[in-house]
Amino acid sequence: MNQTELINYLREHPLVLAPMAGITDRAFRSFMREMGCGIVVTELVSATGLKYSSEKTKKLMEFGADQHPVGIQLFGEELEHLKYATQVVEDMGADFVDLNFGCPVPKVVKKGAGSAILRDLNQVAKVFQAVKSATTLPVTVKVRTGWDELSKNSSEVAHIAYEEGLTWMAIHGRTRAAGYSGRADWDYIAQVKKHSPLPIIGNGDIATAAQAVSRLETSGCDAVMIGRGCLKNPWIFLQAKNLIRGQTSEIERDFLDVFNRLEAHVSAHNPERLVLLQLKKFAAWYSAGYPNASHLRKTLFTTQTLPELKQRILDFFGPLGALTPQDTSNEPFLMGGHG
Ligand SMILES: Cc1cc2nc3c(=O)[nH]c(=O)nc-3n(C[C@H](O)[C@H](O)[C@H](O)COP(=O)(O)O)c2cc1C
Repeated sequence: MNQTELINYLREHPLVLAPMAGITDRAFRSFMREMGCGIVVTELVSATGLKYSSEKTKKLMEFGADQHPVGIQLFGEELEHLKYATQVVEDMGADFVDLNFGCPVPKVVKKGAGSAILRDLNQVAKVFQAVKSATTLPVTVKVRTGWDELSKNSSEVAHIAYEEGLTWMAIHGRTRAAGYSGRADWDYIAQVKKHSPLPIIGNGDIATAAQAVSRLETSGCDAVMIGRGCLKNPWIFLQAKNLIRGQTSEIERDFLDVFNRLEAHVSAHNPERLVLLQLKKFAAWYSAGYPNASHLRKTLFTTQTLPELKQRILDFFGPLGALTPQDTSNEPFLMGGHG
């Protein structure tokens, strides 16, 4: 897909899975594509790690044919490493290169990578130029609103990105200084979108399909990106897609079907020990807001085998039917991440 085709695709499929390190791996991205998400991106991958050819780094970049269009997200501060990594992304057959300018983690920003790049607009331009010079693939970027409240600069970054030929910019509506506290600033995102020559993807705190659609409409963004929201509600993309199409019929929420699909994807790429761990993690997240969720979570700790886990899943989720969970979006949930 060239740049124009990718932008058209984004506008037709305006629901994007947020990259989440340790979560949006190959299996999960395939699962979410199956569950209605339009575009997926890998978690952040170190350009320097790749330069020194760490096998573990390469594994993070693998994707399946079912995931297109798929982006590989790179981070780093060394321009030569970023250029090298960009070529690897192109050779692997990904559809776009996504740059991480949002990671707030001290280990990353100390070196001048992730959100630290936002402090120096010259460096922003240099990174864009370096990466663009290394590939014919579309290049995208994901930012925070700025380093801190006094230096919010997404509009400037969007203009530089446009000048340098990038394809879109995703904005997580918090500053680096805010970490994961407070709420994502969608008014700011809407302002940036209003003046941006570049397509904008808004991101932050979308917990329901209705919120996804309302954020899309009120912010004017070209698309919205959902991260933690799909870890509690696996149907959020399908539900939002339905709402966008004006369909009023409810999506059937069948947890047992969801676990079967998830298990199929996870076990295609992982040994049984990891399948057990992954399914436990999702069982804990999906139980949020349902009666006796805390009891289920306790029993998950002591569950040793896959058949035992499946029985627990059946016992807990089987009888839920179409029961609506309580809203848990105000409870702290995964308040740390790489973007
Ligand atoms: C566990 C976790 C890991 C994350 N890893 C990444 C990452 O690798 N790259 C990135 O750009 N953002 C990363 N993020 C940030 C998310 O992409 C997203 O911007 C943030 O979670 C806000 O969106 P949400 O409220 O929909 O989750 C991560 C977030 C979490 C919670």
